[in-house]
Amino acid sequence: MISFRDAAQVLAPPESGLGYLRSDRAGELLLEPGGLLTGDGRIVALEPDPAAELQVDASGCALLPGLIDCHTHLPFAGWRAQEYEQKVTGVPYEEISRAGGGIASSSRALAEASDEDVLRQARELASEMLRTGTTTFECKSGYGLSREGELRALSLAQRLDSEVEQTTTRTALLAHAVPTGFTADSWMDEVEAMAPAALELASAVDIFVESIAFGNEHLERMGRLAQAHGVALRAHVEQFATMRSVPVALRYGARSVDHLSRLHPDDVRPLAESECAAVLLPGAEFMGAEACAPGRDLIDAGAIVVLATDANPGTSPIFSLPLIAGLGVRRYGLSTRESLLALTLNAAWVLGLSDEVGSIEVGKRADLVLLDAPAEHVAYRLGHNPVAAVFVGGEPAYVREDAAWRIEPR
Ligand code: NIG
Ligand code: FE
Repeated sequence: MISFRDAAQVLAPPESGLGYLRSDRAGELLLEPGGLLTGDGRIVALEPDPAAELQVDASGCALLPGLIDCHTHLPFAGWRAQEYEQKVTGVPYEEISRAGGGIASSSRALAEASDEDVLRQARELASEMLRTGTTTFECKSGYGLSREGELRALSLAQRLDSEVEQTTTRTALLAHAVPTGFTADSWMDEVEAMAPAALELASAVDIFVESIAFGNEHLERMGRLAQAHGVALRAHVEQFATMRSVPVALRYGARSVDHLSRLHPDDVRPLAESECAAVLLPGAEFMGAEACAPGRDLIDAGAIVVLATDANPGTSPIFSLPLIAGLGVRRYGLSTRESLLALTLNAAWVLGLSDEVGSIEVGKRADLVLLDAPAEHVAYRLGHNPVAAVFVGGEPAYVREDAAWRIEPR
């Protein structure tokens, strides 16, 4: 058992058992002094116990639930730094993509890399993510671009789960780019054929709806496929062009719509009134100089707003959720509580894990982040990492060497 005492701030939900909290209620999150007790990998009490074997003096620290990154493109192979240089010097992403770069170039890299190399790179990135407080993250396929390639990506992601400290989930991003030799329609036929095998390995499907990728009719097909297989539907929508995909995604009961940089104003309210989360990806917007999603409007309308890295070698080579919080807060005008909610409970909702993680409440897994700074510093000190220690399932998974706090026997 570990007892945490005298934390300056403990982030806690206003009531227990919530699957999500609409972001216009983020002000109800508690950020009060306190402590807690863990045992058998769980949070067992919301107060310290001086009799516990291990004691953490958390004075001056903030105690948060482990951060959850619900949108990453791990695992992938190699990087695309040269494309970033093209992009910042004026070549649009769509043009790089049409010239065989973008997703297609990461697909070639993945096909050429050995399983061991892909896993090594993913493990290193997962350990980088742990150091900035991520205790749960999503993996996506999507760089396979062939039946074998997609299944390989999903099984590599499954192997990764047992090789990292974090809890991971798998999303089959089966419609990411139209592979050479296919039309969008004929690739969707292939997607339907591979779905039974792919969805043995994944709990959600995903699709990139965009002028350079798939259309709303393909989103509908993916929606039907998700329903037929009983998995969650997620979709990359309104990133570069306004395609009015959100009403379509809502009709199919999507779990999340992600990006939304060019969301149509008329789609804010229906999204906000649904149980579909609005996943904002400020890293991709910042790195691509993209339009800014209407984050403030979504929050004020009562949407379930989430922030994630979109970690990938192309549009967002960013793996730090504190950095994402900083970018999101600045871009969308979020309060501290709104940003923390977007990285914890509401992100758990997207992954279907709200019963297990995402908040500090009795019975949940003891995934905890200890900051040796006030919670307000997460977004404020852009580029600084305030994470002093991370606990996964009640065990210390990362302890920063110079951390100001101490863990000691009773
Ligand atoms: O979320 N938008 C499509 N997919 C990724 C980009 C993937 C890539 O460029 O490799 C995204 O931004
Ligand atoms: Fe993405």
